[in-house]
Amino acid sequence: MSAINPTLAVRWGALAALALAQMSPGGLRPATAQDSADRATRSALALTAHPARGAAEFGRLCSRCHGARGQGDAVRVIPELAGQRVSYLVRQLANFHAGQRESVRMHLVVSQAELRSPQDWADIAAYLSAAEPPPATQTGSGADVALGRGIFHEQCASCHRSDARGDDDGFVPSLRNQHYYYLVKQMRRLAVGERHNVDENLVRFLRSFDARDVAAVADYLSRLRGPGGRHGRGAGS
Ligand code: HEC
Ligand code: HEC
Repeated sequence: MSAINPTLAVRWGALAALALAQMSPGGLRPATAQDSADRATRSALALTAHPARGAAEFGRLCSRCHGARGQGDAVRVIPELAGQRVSYLVRQLANFHAGQRESVRMHLVVSQAELRSPQDWADIAAYLSAAEPPPATQTGSGADVALGRGIFHEQCASCHRSDARGDDDGFVPSLRNQHYYYLVKQMRRLAVGERHNVDENLVRFLRSFDARDVAAVADYLSRLRGPGGRHGRGAGS
């Protein structure tokens, strides 16, 4: 059964549109909360980041959920963060802060006084992007890994890169070292528009995958490992 092909035409249409709109954060949308998240992202990324300060902040404010070394918590569906890209991490903190991404737990975190400043986001992101990812994360059942590999290389690698390390500007995330069910959940949330500051063509594109495709590609990704570090601006000193 050609599980990859039925809606391929629709997907490639969405992909072509995406290639044109390529990931300029904020895109063409008028919404002011998105603009403010993107402005905050830009100002955070223009700062000199201090990873040692970020490590201390992370230990104090984040590690009880994301783990002592940013390894996440598969049972609570809390993402792994070590080795993720600097710009993506900063932009997600800005999105949570501006209500552009739903998560009661993260909204409480980023509304704390210590975490309202773009300098804090830059420092923590610099620490995390250079941190060593865990040797293993939660994987899926293994039943459809080959299907998942096919989907990933055909449909996703153009943006997330063939080793899933994310793009070099850093706004397209690394998908490796991540927990299986977190990946499944975020693909669904992106597809139903619960992550708001996202190109609408990407949302349409992800909506074209059925539950089996999503589980398969997440299972494939959950088995990919790779180092963090050298992930864009802000990672220095
Ligand atoms: C109370 C638990 C909790 C705490 C404390 C917490 N987080 Fe989170 N974090 C979460 C959960 C749950 C998610 C997943 C949200 C979702 O489902 O979209 C998340 C998601 C994230 C993401 C998005 C990751 C991705 O791959 O898109 C980032 C970045 C993040 N957290 C950073 C932090 C930082 C930095 C801190 C400390 C300043 C922190 N978190 C503290 C629970 C927490
Ligand atoms: C056109 C580029 C593009 C394509 C194609 C694409 N993605 Fe993405 N993806 C992105 C961007 C950009 C984000 C970050 C969205 C945001 O900022 O919230 C993302 C986010 C994600 C996330 C959330 C990661 C996290 O840590 O929360 C997952 C999971 C994901 N993509 C999986 C996939 C899969 C699987 C495919 C193929 C079926 C795919 N993507 C195809 C650009 C793309």
